[in-house]
Amino acid sequence: MISDQASELARSIQDRAGNAPPVYGLILGSGLGHLAEAVDGVAIDYADLPGFPHAGVSGHNPKLVVGDLEGIRVAVFGGRAHYYESGRGDAMRLPLEVLKALGAGVLIATNAAGSMRADIPPGDLMLLRDHINFSGLNPLIGEASDARFVPMKDAYDPEIRAALAAAAAAEAIDLKDGVYAWYSGPSFETPAEIRAIHMLGADAVGMSTVPEVILARFLGLRVAAISTITNMAAGLSDEAISHEHTKAMAPLGAAKLEKILRHFLRESGPKA
Ligand code: HPA
Repeated sequence: MISDQASELARSIQDRAGNAPPVYGLILGSGLGHLAEAVDGVAIDYADLPGFPHAGVSGHNPKLVVGDLEGIRVAVFGGRAHYYESGRGDAMRLPLEVLKALGAGVLIATNAAGSMRADIPPGDLMLLRDHINFSGLNPLIGEASDARFVPMKDAYDPEIRAALAAAAAAEAIDLKDGVYAWYSGPSFETPAEIRAIHMLGADAVGMSTVPEVILARFLGLRVAAISTITNMAAGLSDEAISHEHTKAMAPLGAAKLEKILRHFLRESGPKA
């Protein structure tokens, strides 16, 4: 399940950052990369980790930082690879295998997303309860082992979700709860697609996270994910949707997200 390449990378990361296993892995989405700077630890450029994504999407911070945040050992991925960059649904498999090889037990993924609900406006945060894989792709296609048949009920860990919700409440931050739909991108959705996936039960839409969650569950990691809402999805407002807009809006949610994560690490997370 963990490739030789991932084991080797994990060893080289441990040589630089120490052997203590991170409790949490955090993947930072568009416009959220600054949290990597808050970690007291060792930063390694993706470029120095052979096989890691080149993180060619602006608004990301392509570094792995292993160290302490609020006294808890974490591994923060400052950027991610998306399916739409390479056509590979498993573009994040190597980093997630490395996270597992480092000894982490939990992945917390973050992303920027468009909202389909008037009561989840731009600037809000949404804790993922579940997802709809609207892309039809799967990062485990081609995986030969029977482990590929990953159950996806409660993929978003109820206990961790409750702890994140409690952290948000303690910080008086309104953390919404909803279903995220993965749309492959890189073009944004059409208004008709948005109407369709909203009818199917999605509350927010984005171009990431879902393949990572599938891979993380495959690897036996517990998972949680939070969206920062940067816009109303296509057709739901007069505002033009663009990547520039996503990057400009992400900081609205980012400050709240950082507070929640810090509180969660301080109060709710198991100690390293
Ligand atoms: N659609 C897809 N991805 C996104 C959006 C959106 O509206 N906003 C931010 N990422």
